[in-house]
Amino acid sequence: MDLVINRFTVAILVVGCLVAWFLQLIALSPISPNPLILKHSYTREGPYAKNNVLQAVEKLGEGMLDRPEDTAVDSQGLIYTATRDGWIKRMHSNGSWEDWKMVGGAPLGLTVSTSGDVLVCMPNQGLLKVNDDRIFLLASEIDGVPIRFANTVVEASDGSVYFSDSSTKYGKFFLDLLEAKPYGRLLKYDPITKKTTVLLDGLGFANGVALSSKEDYIIICETWKFRCLKHWIKGEKLGSTEIFIENLPGGPDNINIAADGRSYWIALVGRIRSRTLEFVYRYGILKHIFATYPNLLEWIGFQKRQAMVVKVGEHGQPITSLDDSNGKVMSLVTSAMEVGDYLYLGSLHANFLGRLSADKFRV
Ligand SMILES: *[C@@H]1O[C@H](CO)[C@@H](O)[C@H](O)[C@H]1NC(C)=O
Repeated sequence: MDLVINRFTVAILVVGCLVAWFLQLIALSPISPNPLILKHSYTREGPYAKNNVLQAVEKLGEGMLDRPEDTAVDSQGLIYTATRDGWIKRMHSNGSWEDWKMVGGAPLGLTVSTSGDVLVCMPNQGLLKVNDDRIFLLASEIDGVPIRFANTVVEASDGSVYFSDSSTKYGKFFLDLLEAKPYGRLLKYDPITKKTTVLLDGLGFANGVALSSKEDYIIICETWKFRCLKHWIKGEKLGSTEIFIENLPGGPDNINIAADGRSYWIALVGRIRSRTLEFVYRYGILKHIFATYPNLLEWIGFQKRQAMVVKVGEHGQPITSLDDSNGKVMSLVTSAMEVGDYLYLGSLHANFLGRLSADKFRV
C-alpha cells in the first residue's frame, strides 16, 4: 500500500514540476513561434557537390577586418567593406587597406552609388550615405515606424535605392528564424522625394538584394525560407513577384550579379539546415527552449563551421557551388562579389576578406 502511494506521489510531483517548468519556459521565451516545415530535402550532388574550393582563398587584410559581411567596388576599383566594429574600410589597388570612415554601430551591406557615395545598411538605424566629407542618414523610418534591420542595398541607375529590412520585430536572426513569422520587407528609397516606401512585406528574413542588368527586376533572398524571389519593377510584369530559386541547401544571405551580367552569386550563411535543425523548426516547444537558451543551438549544429556559395543562372537554375565543407579556412560566408578575375568573399566569422582567383572558380 505504502509503495503505491509513494509511486503515486512521485508521479504527481514529477508531472507538477514538468508543468511548472513548461509554464516558466513559455513565460521566459522571447518568441511566439509558428511551425516552420521545410517540404523538400536537398542533396549535395550535381551543382551542390562538396569541393572545398573555398579553402583556396587568399586572405586579404587578415587581422584588420572584423567580420566583413559585405563588399562593394567603386569606379576606380577600390574594394569597400563594412566591419562589425563600425568601420568602412577600403583596399587600394596596391593591396593596402585604409580605415576610411568610422560610422559606428555594426554596419552590414553596402554599395557604391553612381555619384561615388557609399550607401551603408545600419541595423537599428537605417540607411546611411557616406562620403569623404560626411555621414548622412538617408532613411530611418517609414510613416513614423523605424526601419529596424536594414541589411543589404543596391542602387539603380536612376538613383532609386532598394534595400532590405530583415525583420520588423527582431534584431537577432535566430529569434526571427525560430518564431518563423515573416517580418521582412523590401524597401525603396526615392532620392527625389527622399521618401522610403515598402515594395514587399511578409518576407522570411529579407536579406540579399540584387538588380538585374536590365534593371527590370530585383531578386530578394529570404534566409529562413531558403529561397529568393524575383520582383518585377519594369515591363508587363511590373509589381508581380515570383520564386527565383527555392530549396537552397542553406539560408541565402547576400546575392550579387556575376561578371557575365546574367547569373548571380548567392552566399548561403552557415549551416542552418540539417535533419536535427529541421526537426526543431517544426515544434513550438523545442523552439521555446532554444529561444530561451540560445547557447543550446550551437550544441545541435546551428551555425556549424562551414561555408558555401552558389552560382545561379538567370532562370534560377543552380550552375555550380563553391564550399568549405568543414570551415577549415572560411565559415559563415555571407557574400560573394565577382570583380575582374576575382571573387571576393565576406564572412561573419573571419577577420579577413577571402579572395579567390578565376582559375579556381571559372571552369
Ligand atoms: C597604396 O596606395 C595608396 C593610395 O594611392 C597610398 O596612399 C599608399 O601609400 C600606398 N601604399 C603602399 C604600401 O604603396
